[in-house]
Amino acid sequence: MLIRTEIPGDEDAIDRVTTLAFEAASHSDHTEARIVRDLRAAGDLTLSLVAEVDGELAGHVAFSPVTVDGRHDGWYGLGPLSVHPGRQGHGIGSALVEQGLAILRDRGARGCALLGNPDFYARFGFASDGTLRYGSVPARFVQAVVFTGARPSGELSYARAFDLAGS
Ligand SMILES: CC(C)(COP(=O)(O)OP(=O)(O)OC[C@H]1O[C@@H](n2cnc3c(N)ncnc32)[C@H](O)[C@@H]1OP(=O)(O)O)[C@@H](O)C(=O)NCCC(=O)NCCS
Repeated sequence: MLIRTEIPGDEDAIDRVTTLAFEAASHSDHTEARIVRDLRAAGDLTLSLVAEVDGELAGHVAFSPVTVDGRHDGWYGLGPLSVHPGRQGHGIGSALVEQGLAILRDRGARGCALLGNPDFYARFGFASDGTLRYGSVPARFVQAVVFTGARPSGELSYARAFDLAGS
């Protein structure tokens, strides 16, 4: 498996893998591929990593700037995270998350936040203490991993592409 940053020409394959990954996901509103496209178009795709297996694009993860109580203070959001349905359960998703977090940390980010299943994300250090909020989403799904400084406290907001996705 090779994890690398997105390069021009990857866009369609990222689109496909994202659509396929979320097709059967009950928690999905199937806007994830559009979110990735819109993040890219808006210049908000801070980090875009792909996983290649046997020369084929098998997974993707996006990171974008987030704010807490309206302030962007070196925090980034993880997602969407997608692994091709035929390739799931072989460590690709974990490798994308681990590598993405390592790169963000190297770049001087203060931390990373996400909305997601703690059963999957706790293994990477993500945790919830209820102080980071996202509307009415139950606290345990609003998670953060701190690289430096204090745990974030307040209302989490994602880049505009996430708001536009349902429209
Ligand atoms: C979630 C996803 C990215 C994981 O990628 P993956 O390559 O299959 O994951 P890995 O092989 O690295 O890790 C597998 C582990 O994650 C767990 N896992 C996978 N999907 C999970 C989910 N939706 N919720 C909780 N745990 C999950 C597996 O049970 C397994 O746990 P184990 O190691 O304790 O046995 C992938 O299943 C996927 O694309 N799902 C559809 C899209 C999605 O839900 N994205 C995440 C949105 S928050």
